[in-house]
Amino acid sequence: QRSPGWAEVEEYLSATLVRGGDGMDAVISSIDAAGMPRIEVAPTAGKLLMLLVRIQGARRVLEIGTLAGFSTIWLARGVPDGGHVTTCEFLPEHAALARKNIDAAGFGAKVDIRVGPALDTLPTLEHSEPYDFVFIDADKGNDTNYLQWALKLTRPGSVIVMDNVIWEGTILDPGGDPDAAAIRAALDFMGASPSLDATAIQTAGSKGWDGFAIAVVK
Ligand code: DHB
Ligand code: MG
Repeated sequence: QRSPGWAEVEEYLSATLVRGGDGMDAVISSIDAAGMPRIEVAPTAGKLLMLLVRIQGARRVLEIGTLAGFSTIWLARGVPDGGHVTTCEFLPEHAALARKNIDAAGFGAKVDIRVGPALDTLPTLEHSEPYDFVFIDADKGNDTNYLQWALKLTRPGSVIVMDNVIWEGTILDPGGDPDAAAIRAALDFMGASPSLDATAIQTAGSKGWDGFAIAVVK
């Protein structure tokens, strides 16, 4: 049951604690102008990603699901000089807009976009150094596959964050929603994996009722 006030509280938190951030409004305008879906992370969640990257001391960050680059820029803001973000995007037109937004925000040199199905581009990253932080926020049907790739591309101590793990609560009774079933399977995988120490938190705000899973690689 959604109570009124979630969106208003989020607006207050954004205005008080996040204050948009340089160039972030321009990213949102570009999403609207391109007619792309408004499914980017909330500003409060974007800043959480930046803070988690900082807390982790991550220098190498991997993102699966770029969209227009909103979360990518937050991740890049958390990475120190000399650090790097690799982000995977399925659609060339989304990747092109993300490239523009990321460059305009001043993070062009820090961010590498891999275009195409992530299940094709992730294997090309296997021979690079392990990633310190992975953010999974793409097609939900592949969440478990992306977790398995994240495990291959990280090291003990790396952090994995997955968006949209509550999906308005439908994970408890997926019915005919294949995304809900896939998210549930990914949570089950996280809980059962001997290589992950995981939890999840529910969130309420402009994006309704959802949540993040967070795990440390053992
Ligand atoms: C959808 C995808 C997301 O990553 C999200 O955060 C919210 C919604 C979607 O596909 O509907
Ligand atoms: Mg998401």
